[in-house]
Amino acid sequence: MTEDHDSPPHAVNDRFLAHHFDSHEQQFAASRLGMWIFLGTEILLFSGLFCAYAIYRNSHPELFAYGARFLDTGWGFLNTLVLLFSSLTMALAVRSAQLGDQRGLVLNLALTLFCGVDFLGIKAIEYRHKIHENLVWGPGFADDPRGDAKSAPTVTDTYVDPSIPNADRGRKLFTGTCSACHGTGGNDGAIKGIQISTSPFVAGNDDASLVAFIKRGRQPNDPLNTTGGTMLPRGGNPNLTDSDLGHIVAYIRLLQQRAGGKGSGGDGGAVTAPNSPATDKGATTTASPTSSTPSAPARDERPVIDPRRDPSRPPNMHIFFGIYFAMTGLHGVHVIAGMCVIAWLLFRARRGDFTRRYFGPVDLGGLYWHLVDLIWIYLFPLLYLIH
Ligand code: HEC
Repeated sequence: MTEDHDSPPHAVNDRFLAHHFDSHEQQFAASRLGMWIFLGTEILLFSGLFCAYAIYRNSHPELFAYGARFLDTGWGFLNTLVLLFSSLTMALAVRSAQLGDQRGLVLNLALTLFCGVDFLGIKAIEYRHKIHENLVWGPGFADDPRGDAKSAPTVTDTYVDPSIPNADRGRKLFTGTCSACHGTGGNDGAIKGIQISTSPFVAGNDDASLVAFIKRGRQPNDPLNTTGGTMLPRGGNPNLTDSDLGHIVAYIRLLQQRAGGKGSGGDGGAVTAPNSPATDKGATTTASPTSSTPSAPARDERPVIDPRRDPSRPPNMHIFFGIYFAMTGLHGVHVIAGMCVIAWLLFRARRGDFTRRYFGPVDLGGLYWHLVDLIWIYLFPLLYLIH
């Protein structure tokens, strides 16, 4: 304090004027500058994620088109409204502070805080749903049914009843045993004339008969034999259990579906339907009552799709959800931080700290909250409203 301060601006509330400032105006201007610089760094922080978004969306548009279907536009829109409203109440809070209206200040801060709670509650509903459906980032996302993803460990292994036919498991078993002769996709193997994915024999048999067929194999003297070659019982691998064969058939159905074969039994019902559990002793292990109904194509229109079993799912879907969780998660952390600030402002407002001359913290808190809202205004259309 080297300067002379005879003028009276320090009369009231001087305890909130830091000693290195001459006046509240100066203190306010300095703190605002600091806040804007901080907001600049915040924007830089989010820009990194927005860049990642732009790059991936540009190189993999199909991931975003597919993934956005799993985001709930209704909840997202509601959250947008909640945040817009909270921006309004925050602006009103700043105004009340400037006018010295303590009741208005407390009320508007409380409303803003309440909106923050709402937002987080809705976010929690959305996150819970996604985690429950295993729509998550990284290798936790279900293994790729197309079979061309890097062999990421799949969570399905840990919780799917092993006796329920599962195309993911089937793919692994098929690759291990059958692809030696039939090729990975069931088509490009060494056997001339046998294409598993388009085979009328496969299409014409239901799951149970196919399992029985694979158990039995086909000798060259079999009247059905077309190539003169031998299909060994269980593909020559006696370690395959009956339920393993059930998984393999589920995978074969998937191959058929990918090849566009909609023949009877080939609609993928065996892949999606939770078939009755198979016993390793029974001869008809994986018969699915629905798998051979010809009316099945109608099921392609069912609104709820399980991306784990959906053959049309683009590979590497977990990238979309990685971006979704990274962006909305970082934003959520900011909402929580903003709510802590508002709670602190509320506490101080009730204590009567703020006056017409000293309302800087409310103003700065408001700036921060507006930034948080603004980011969501970008996130919502970029993630939810993609077609
Ligand atoms: C050692 C080579 C070999 C292996 C391993 C093998 N197969 Fe075969 N498979 C054949 C041959 C050869 C035929 C064709 C027989 C014929 O001419 O009808 C065939 C036929 C089939 C057919 C009937 C296709 C049709 O259109 O008639 C199915 C289904 C089949 N195999 C499934 C499997 C499955 C599933 C596995 C793995 C568990 C497997 N195969 C393993 C050699 C093999």
